[in-house]
Amino acid sequence: MSDLKPKTPGESAVETRYLVMPHQANPYGTAFGGVIMSWIDMTAGMAAQRHCRREAVTAGIDSIVFKAPIRIGDHVVIKASVNYVSRTSMEVGVRVVSEAPYTGKQAVATKAHLTFVALDENKEPTAVAPIEPETEEEKRRYANAQMRVKARKELLKKMQ
Ligand SMILES: CC(C)(COP(=O)(O)OP(=O)(O)OC[C@H]1O[C@@H](n2cnc3c(N)ncnc32)[C@H](O)[C@@H]1OP(=O)(O)O)[C@@H](O)C(=O)NCCC(=O)NCCS
Repeated sequence: MSDLKPKTPGESAVETRYLVMPHQANPYGTAFGGVIMSWIDMTAGMAAQRHCRREAVTAGIDSIVFKAPIRIGDHVVIKASVNYVSRTSMEVGVRVVSEAPYTGKQAVATKAHLTFVALDENKEPTAVAPIEPETEEEKRRYANAQMRVKARKELLKKMQ
């Protein structure tokens, strides 16, 4: 059931954990980017869905940066939270952290921003609840996401 009451990013945030298996690696022995991307999309999608409590489809991956490789056997922690909400779309920020299984040493491996759109019963975009950032970090992410969304919309307008 949808609900347009404002929510904080913490109310819909999702954290998932995976283990990189050999079949998920590239020929160099590190995690295949496409596998990491599918984990990102799934985790971010769940955060968007928890925010809007509706069908939420991926409209675009606005940015993805692979900062450090992840090795076979590493644990992969994926954290996603809604940064910003326009009318029907939600920007979700994702941070991927690799964790060495024996030492526990962690490193930020990947960062991404994705946009999801909420759909109604007729598969049409529909309004979602506003987001209310609470912490300083959430407020910073909100302000940055607002700039990205504005820039993307302006670019789209210029290109049409
Ligand atoms: C995403 C989708 C629903 C948008 O439909 P649309 O008819 O273009 O919708 P609109 O033009 O009315 O835009 C609706 C919202 O989507 C946003 N949007 C549309 N295309 C976008 C894109 N490429 N990137 C980011 N946001 C986008 C708009 O900015 C708007 O946001 P707002 O209401 O918050 O301002 C449609 O393109 C779609 O169904 N795409 C396929 C989704 C899919 O199959 N994903 C993969 C599997 S989940």
